[in-house]
Amino acid sequence: IKGPPVPSLITGTPEEGFALAVKLSQKGVVFTQADAKVRSGLRGQYANDPNSLIAVSHVVAVHFQTVAAANNYWRK
Ligand code: HEM
Repeated sequence: IKGPPVPSLITGTPEEGFALAVKLSQKGVVFTQADAKVRSGLRGQYANDPNSLIAVSHVVAVHFQTVAAANNYWRK
């Protein structure tokens, strides 16, 4: 997979965990469509389609659940 590796699911804060969930979501897209030119050609479409944006939020939310569980919900 392109881009820097994700060495760990452990993050310091929920905010960082959310950023990691976004990163994992984007990696899913890059893995599926490796051609950056194709991706940038489609960017304007999903960025302006509310249903695509809701779908994006859903994918991020599923990854966030995994990251949160891996971090024991940041409980002290
Ligand atoms: C930009 C997230 C799906 C192509 C972005 C940005 C975010 C993001 C947060 C803004 C980056 C920035 O402005 O710095 C996601 C997530 C996705 C997703 C979480 C799926 C769950 C897709 C898909 C495509 C795509 C399906 C194309 C097929 C792009 C491109 C950019 C972009 C080309 C512009 C990159 C840039 O400006 O440098 N995406 N995206 N993304 N996304 Fe997505």
